Amino acid sequence: MLILGIESSCDETAASVVQDHRTIRSSVVSTQIEEHKKYGGVVPEIASRRHCENILGVVREALDRGGVKLSDLDGIAVTYGPGLIGALLVGVSFAKGLAMSCGKPLIPVHHLTGHIASNYLTHADLEPPFLCLVASGGHSHIVEVLSYTDFRIIGRTRDDAAGECFDKCARAMGFPYPGGVHIDKAAAKGAPKAFSLPHPVVAGSEFDFSFSGLKTSVINMLHNAKQKGIAIDRNDLSASLQSAIAEVLTEKTIHAAETYGYRKIALAGGVSANSGVRAALSEACRKRGYEFFMPEISLCGDNGAMIACQGSYDLLAGITADESLNAAATVSIEHKESTV
Ligand code: KG4
Ligand code: ZN
Repeated sequence: MLILGIESSCDETAASVVQDHRTIRSSVVSTQIEEHKKYGGVVPEIASRRHCENILGVVREALDRGGVKLSDLDGIAVTYGPGLIGALLVGVSFAKGLAMSCGKPLIPVHHLTGHIASNYLTHADLEPPFLCLVASGGHSHIVEVLSYTDFRIIGRTRDDAAGECFDKCARAMGFPYPGGVHIDKAAAKGAPKAFSLPHPVVAGSEFDFSFSGLKTSVINMLHNAKQKGIAIDRNDLSASLQSAIAEVLTEKTIHAAETYGYRKIALAGGVSANSGVRAALSEACRKRGYEFFMPEISLCGDNGAMIACQGSYDLLAGITADESLNAAATVSIEHKESTV
């Protein structure tokens, strides 16, 4: 089975051809980070315009590098949500036109299910059911992956996502956008216990996250220090923040695994690239004898291969869309696209 996957939900225009669910024939990612850096974050209109300019070239390159013609494909998978609406619309419209013109099935893929699927591309033996911590710029979910196409959320963030907390604190510390990776690098040179930061507890839900208190406390600490003329060591603050985020994500995920009886745990989403989160969750799993899976670094961020991989399982389950497919800025991972 050959699936073309197209991703344009944020600031990466990406396309990939995946064969038989798990073999990447090609993967092309065109990132806009340098342009958005000037503004300290993603500017939605600029993102849409760049997707519009780049998408044809990126898809053509993915097909060429994979040695695949449109007529060889079994389906065209595309991220339809969640994400920036203008950005998503570019990918959805493009995929729709392509699928309709070459008579191939159009497969609507939920972005977060794509992130989860990056684990299938890394671990040939991983199969559902398992528990997955999905932490990205927009989401922090603990998800039961019941099958390749059935998902249940058992914990979510009440406010900021983990990636958002990394990025906003990084910005306050003077790191360029996107800040998560800079915190990761600085943390390697700092002391994780240098600052005592709050470990947020969410009243009423043992599996939900809240990162806004942690973010505010870091920002306030930086403001107060600046007013008093005190220098704060960015490496130490980065290490303390990273360890607080990694601990909270790990504690709740392990607690969910114990409560729901999972012994197979996976990590996914942009934040899965964070070395502190990778180490903390893998160590907690190792101690308990749980199996632990995480994507290889190149598949942690947004890419087309994860969309093609998930799309191939969606197609098997009969999840396809017709020309009425629309993009959705917010849509739950539990939502099922209707089949045609
Ligand atoms: O999944 P993703 O690429 O895009 C969304 O779907 O949101 O996630 C992007 C997020 C950003 O917040 C980025 O700072 C964060 O993932 N991120 C990291 C690291 N690499 C990416 N956060 C912490 N440490 C990293 N190494
Ligand atoms: Zn993502």
